[in-house]
Amino acid sequence: MVKAAVLGAAGGIGQPLSLLLKTCSLVHELALYDVVNTPGVAADLSHIATPAVTTGYLPADDGLQKALEGCDIVVIPAGLPRKPGMTRDELFNKNAGIVSALITGVAKWCPKAYVLIISNPVNSTVPIAAEVLKAHKVFDARKLFGVTSLDVVRASTFTAEIVGEKDPRKLTIPVVGGHSGDTIVPLLSQTTPPVSIPEDKVAGLVNRIQFGGDEVVKAKDGAGSATLSMAFAGYRFAEAVLKAHSGETGIVEPTFIYLPGVPGGAEVLKQVGGLEYFAVPVELGPGGAVKATNPLIAASEAEKKLLEVAIAGLKGNIAKGVEFVQASS
Ligand code: NAD
Ligand code: LMR
Repeated sequence: MVKAAVLGAAGGIGQPLSLLLKTCSLVHELALYDVVNTPGVAADLSHIATPAVTTGYLPADDGLQKALEGCDIVVIPAGLPRKPGMTRDELFNKNAGIVSALITGVAKWCPKAYVLIISNPVNSTVPIAAEVLKAHKVFDARKLFGVTSLDVVRASTFTAEIVGEKDPRKLTIPVVGGHSGDTIVPLLSQTTPPVSIPEDKVAGLVNRIQFGGDEVVKAKDGAGSATLSMAFAGYRFAEAVLKAHSGETGIVEPTFIYLPGVPGGAEVLKQVGGLEYFAVPVELGPGGAVKATNPLIAASEAEKKLLEVAIAGLKGNIAKGVEFVQASS
């Protein structure tokens, strides 16, 4: 029996992501938490003829506690999205406090749950979550994931367009680093099956994958950022975690993790100048991350240059998250 909670469930990502989780046969109970509108969203979803029993909670009457108690997996898309002209880092001031408060709830009421962080800036909110869990002495790095799946989804989609592959799902591309602009590094040279990207198209493709989020923010013109593609990507990652939890083997997905706490992470850590957080393809199992793979060794010369830029950018983002929690404790 699996209980899943979505925190920020009434939002642009939260609603379609909750819909997808409601249709997941691996979920038996679905708790929706937000500061607004969850009773309505839950009532709506509860009419869908699938087994997951769906309930909505607001902050009143210990709503967060009730949503989280007994949870096996918690997905967090709570927080402000970008408007045109903003960077993800500019969301830090609002979202750092939201994530830290929600993770305090996780630490108290479901410390053994898998925790999937979608709220931006992911490069900082994941370190915030880790620090809060550490402070409560319940941190298990194998169960904390920064969701970078939208970068992976975009990499497949945009690459498929260029190489003429009609089904983007057939392309697997390791996307590593972080989740913002040039901290996102698609290792196109390791695409499987191998693809032939015209030389003059590589830089543009990399740039489009790195800044795909801006494309959506601009097109939405003040009405937010990616929500539907993010719900798809977030569900893809949550389903991978749940499938691995149920014993399915051979599941590997890129995700932003705390390297020192995941088997294989130390090898990656050496490669990224000692950074403690980095997204790499991770093999999942019943306890979460089983092994961090290291595709960086085989990066091309051009990709190594992209990695240097990503590492420099991530350093400050990670430190900012860690310092936020340490300063407030
Ligand atoms: P949204 O504004 O539509 O929804 C956010 C929801 O969070 C709202 O319903 C709001 O009421 C709720 N919320 C605010 N404070 C809360 C709290 N303390 N507890 C519970 N819920 C709270 O925004 P959105 O478009 O759904 O985006 C949500 C977040 O996801 C943003 O930070 C955005 O930048 C991020 N995002 C990340 C990725 C990624 O790839 N990781 C992709 C897209 C968006
Ligand atoms: C994305 O990549 O679409 C998200 O991180 C949202 C954003 O701010 O671009």
